[in-house]
Amino acid sequence: MGKTTVAAHLAGAFALMGHDVILLDLDPERNLRKLFSQDINDEDASVFVPPINKNETGTTITVLNHDEWQPEDYPDIKITICDCSPVLDKNPKSLVEKFDYCIIPTTLNPLGVSKNCDVIIRTFKHIRRLNSQAEMFALINNYHSDQSFTNRNQVLRDHLRRSLSKYTSTDSKCKFIDPDAAKIRYSKSLLYWGYHIVEGTTPQLAFNSNGGRSHPRTDFLQLAEYLEEHTTIDELRRQGH
Ligand SMILES: Nc1ncnc2c1ncn2[C@@H]1O[C@H](COP(=O)(O)OP(=O)(O)O)[C@@H](O)[C@H]1O
Ligand SMILES: [Mg+2]
Repeated sequence: MGKTTVAAHLAGAFALMGHDVILLDLDPERNLRKLFSQDINDEDASVFVPPINKNETGTTITVLNHDEWQPEDYPDIKITICDCSPVLDKNPKSLVEKFDYCIIPTTLNPLGVSKNCDVIIRTFKHIRRLNSQAEMFALINNYHSDQSFTNRNQVLRDHLRRSLSKYTSTDSKCKFIDPDAAKIRYSKSLLYWGYHIVEGTTPQLAFNSNGGRSHPRTDFLQLAEYLEEHTTIDELRRQGH
């Protein structure tokens, strides 16, 4: 579904916007640590993100396992992103209770739409049982933007939105993000993200531009901006959440 890819690159987008970010790994597969380690034996997993504006200093994404994370050790970090376990009960309850917002990535795929919808609603309900205030968003990942798919994408989007509304109409803090507002397109650089592990080179995000453009960079910045507009994240950040 793209949980790890979305968590890491959303952290990357906030980093590009000038925020240091903690990326908490809740998935027993520990993919994030592998993806962000400079060296396989290295305890430290972090990546430096250069600034968009040349006069800024750049920021750091630090990967931690949830049991290593002591928020008081990182008083200046206002954004923490969790890469959750797909087994909902495996995510520590004490952490889920603290979530301010959650993103549930899904794919627009004909055979998957009703199954994905059930998974999203189950996830919304699970988190809501533990956390009454979290704002939750279903996000389309792996979006195919070729023109020849426009009509089919619209039909699938409307179908998914209608199916999700069975739950979202009862919980005003759960929303489906219309792909016109924000989505993550299918991209080869996301598909091959992590190749640096095989090559043994330094970790990096899939934001490299190709002919001056990078779809992942555009899409994740758009997602981060969408979240700033549609949540109280800005305010929470000021309060130091
Ligand atoms: N937008 C995308 N475009 C292309 N490939 C993607 C995209 N999102 C995820 N992938 C690929 O799909 C696979 C699974 O993604 P991952 O983030 O590991 O999912 P999860 O953490 O939910 O298991 C990875 O190989 C990743 O590179
Ligand atoms: Mg994962």
